[in-house]
Amino acid sequence: MRVGFVGWRGMVGSVLMQRMREENDFAQISEPVFFTTSNVGGKGPDIGRDVPALKDAKNIDDLLAMDAIVTCQGGDYTSEVFPKLRAAGWKGYWIDAASTLRMEDDAIIILDPVNMNVIKDGLANGVKNYVGGNCTVSLMLMALGGLFQNDLVEWVTSMTYQAASGAGAQNMRELISGMGAIHGQVADKLADPASAILDIDRKVSDFLRSDEYPSQNFGVPLAGSLIPWIDKDLGNGQSKEEWKGGVETNKILGRSANPVPVDGLCVRVGAMRCHSQALTIKLKKDVPLDEIEAMLAAANPWAKVVPNTREASMRDLTPAAVTGTLTTPVGRLRKLAMGGDYLSAFTVGDQLLWGAAEPLRRMLRILIE
Ligand code: HSE
Repeated sequence: MRVGFVGWRGMVGSVLMQRMREENDFAQISEPVFFTTSNVGGKGPDIGRDVPALKDAKNIDDLLAMDAIVTCQGGDYTSEVFPKLRAAGWKGYWIDAASTLRMEDDAIIILDPVNMNVIKDGLANGVKNYVGGNCTVSLMLMALGGLFQNDLVEWVTSMTYQAASGAGAQNMRELISGMGAIHGQVADKLADPASAILDIDRKVSDFLRSDEYPSQNFGVPLAGSLIPWIDKDLGNGQSKEEWKGGVETNKILGRSANPVPVDGLCVRVGAMRCHSQALTIKLKKDVPLDEIEAMLAAANPWAKVVPNTREASMRDLTPAAVTGTLTTPVGRLRKLAMGGDYLSAFTVGDQLLWGAAEPLRRMLRILIE
């Protein structure tokens, strides 16, 4: 199988390469070919064996020779190259991290621990386009898969705490720069135990509101603050990120014709690469909590139930604990005061792993095996 990789050097692409090396995926691919938009003829990445010189990611003839193409190059690349490639008669598998094609009828959103049946149906029916889901949606479904598998969900509302990485590498840098710049404003006062906290606070607040705060990428401060809007304004009061929650969840589950309402508020917070979500779930019936926990834990090997105690929640259910791992813990599970069919939950997941790179490499494995 000849597999082309595009956008393997960026943030998601680098995580993909790292995961593919860890899982020895390249040993299964007879001919990996690396493409570039900037360094044609250059050297490919280290995958433990020789690879040909980098090819031009815009050269349709070179792309036509691939059986599958995996791209993390972004939506503009997909919009430009994908239609040309199909128009030229290419019949290969297109595996994409960008959202461009996600909601197309001839594309499947890939999250195999949750929707292997949908993926298998797609393959059997000749579907050739496989697209990674929105990170928040994928992470929610990895954690809550058990409830959906058992058709227990009447509706879900999610309040998100999304990391800087979802906005891009530059935004992660800006978050840390902001943290450092804030500290720099008050470092001398912090070092003096006798300094007044309200003086420190005033200096920090003045700095957050000043033009000196580094906010080129987010537009407003994230460190020391938060941003209650993610992605485009759809003009109906909903952000595009919030809209994706509903449509993508149902598409992943293969139930767009009979959708479960999923809606909420998406918020950017100062975490690096883990998205967290507080969920209120209306169950179709009053299922005992121990049965719910058993369903969640059994749904896939990565959904780990965290006991609803202060100690376990603080230790295991945070971005600091989860970052860089594939576990998607789910905790704070309890029935709410509204009644036995109202469940609260909190989940955390690495936005670059299950939220971006992992479903792509697993799709490639499904194709190869
Ligand atoms: N839209 C997401 C975010 C990125 O901004 O966090 C992952 O799909």
